[in-house]
Amino acid sequence: MKTHTTIQSLQSAIDSWRSQGQRIAFVPTMGGLHDGHLSLVALAKQKADKVIVSVFVNPTQFGENEDFDQYPNTLEQDIALLEQHQIDGLYTPSIEQIYPQGLDSDIKVGEVGDILCGASRPGHFDGVVQVVRRLFEIVKPNMAIFGQKDYQQLLVIAQMAAQYFPEIEVLSQPTIREQDGLAMSTRNQYLSIDEKKIAPRLYQALLQTKQDYLDNTPVEVLTNRVKNTLSKDFKVDYFEVLDANTLKQITDNTSKIAILCAVFLGSTRLIDNIIFNKG
Ligand code: PAF
Repeated sequence: MKTHTTIQSLQSAIDSWRSQGQRIAFVPTMGGLHDGHLSLVALAKQKADKVIVSVFVNPTQFGENEDFDQYPNTLEQDIALLEQHQIDGLYTPSIEQIYPQGLDSDIKVGEVGDILCGASRPGHFDGVVQVVRRLFEIVKPNMAIFGQKDYQQLLVIAQMAAQYFPEIEVLSQPTIREQDGLAMSTRNQYLSIDEKKIAPRLYQALLQTKQDYLDNTPVEVLTNRVKNTLSKDFKVDYFEVLDANTLKQITDNTSKIAILCAVFLGSTRLIDNIIFNKG
């Protein structure tokens, strides 16, 4: 595995693969790699001839009082994991390569980026789209792979890709969980031992809500009920049962349901979701 720190070095490797007709899968990350990321790498390896992973902690997707400065930097460990998983190239760009004109941008994601996580983290998805667009311009992959744990992010990126990069296929992988059900996340490193015991209750609440929904409990009743239960352990940011394709209220045309939530456990923000067919 070669680590590329410049655009030139990365593109020359990719150009030579492409000239041999090889297909390239791209897995963008912010490092702090865990089994969730490795499942994206596994899908990339299955679908393409060559796999590129990037590690770049993108400042423009963090709000002013968020954890940009503390975000885990585990590059050595990440490199060892990626080597073990035999990817073809790691790209670790500098901030100047990604943002040669500075961090300001006029990208506005619009409706789907303004609700849920976008409402609590204004500008977050504008920053995500800004960096993913730039990475797509540099890497020009055939496909890019994202986790369903960040379900709203996945929809926002799929929408952006359909508009600006229709040639790039956006693929996703289901959330990978700890044995106790907690969705894997780089930010789980922030949890104390006691908080780690409480955190899996979020997934239990999602499962219970899915069951209640399938038992025909009205959405308003079940969301109020689950918010009450969760508020004993967490500060609930949002808990919503929505149409999974539009992230709007469920209608007769809804075919897939998304139960999405964000909570604070101490100062750590956890997000999770369950997606299932309406049946
Ligand atoms: O999901 C992430 O790790 C990041 O939001 C992404 C997609 C790599 C953009 O910085």
